[in-house]
Amino acid sequence: MHNRILNSVVVLTGAGISAESGVPTFRGEDGLWRQYRAEDLATPQAFMRDPTLVWEWYDWRRGLIANCEPNAAHRTLVDMERRCEDFTLITQNVDDLHHRAGSKRVVQLHGSIWQVRCTSEGIVQENHDVPLRQLPARCACGAALRPHVVWFGESLDGTVLEEAYAAAESCDLMLAVGTSAIVHPAASLPTIAKSRGARLIEVNLERTPLSPYADEVVLGPAAEELPKLWARLQEGV
Ligand code: OAD
Repeated sequence: MHNRILNSVVVLTGAGISAESGVPTFRGEDGLWRQYRAEDLATPQAFMRDPTLVWEWYDWRRGLIANCEPNAAHRTLVDMERRCEDFTLITQNVDDLHHRAGSKRVVQLHGSIWQVRCTSEGIVQENHDVPLRQLPARCACGAALRPHVVWFGESLDGTVLEEAYAAAESCDLMLAVGTSAIVHPAASLPTIAKSRGARLIEVNLERTPLSPYADEVVLGPAAEELPKLWARLQEGV
């Protein structure tokens, strides 16, 4: 029998869930935004100015992610999906570690590093070449391809966002795992859930702006803490 708390569960993940797999986070001591300027690499203006530079950075990240494996935190979410009646995994991550772990339905708020989009026709294609064959990558139509990810200053896909809001608004339990909770609209999902009566639990190495709203803050690495938390939730604690 399912405990009621497990009926409708939403999990929002951020870069921290992939940290123990070896994927760098954005903020924090070794974060990408400490080494690189987002304005030079993750904006439409940067891409217009220097598409090769932007693609080189994505090509490097794709190579890095291709060599990483999902960790125990990703795997725990696979088990949650199997056991909860209504489960939605929402991620800000553009890596594919949730999919590779076995999660079936993943709402990717910020797109996927393994998809490319034609800047002329808007067609999205899967592309797993490591390294990319051509820099900057080009579509068969001759136009430039860009990573199918959301850059600073760009809007999230409306359908994807609606799906995420709907799940957050109606869940009983929301887990926020490994996110600094400062990039909106993703960061507002846990507080929306909380305001609609959901129990909110945060898992992070440190406290975040979300922590004051959480019913519980679990401090520690996700790969260690999430399996323990899941075991506890299944016991109804
Ligand atoms: P951040 O890099 O901002 O935050 C990572 C969070 O994970 C921090 O709060 C860390 O404390 C925590 N963390 C690190 N290692 C952890 C571990 N082993 N276990 C648990 N927590 C850990 O990443 P996001 O919140 O995902 O946007 O960043 C949000 C967005 O900002 C990204 O999607 C990206 C970035 O700019 C776009 O690319 C549009």
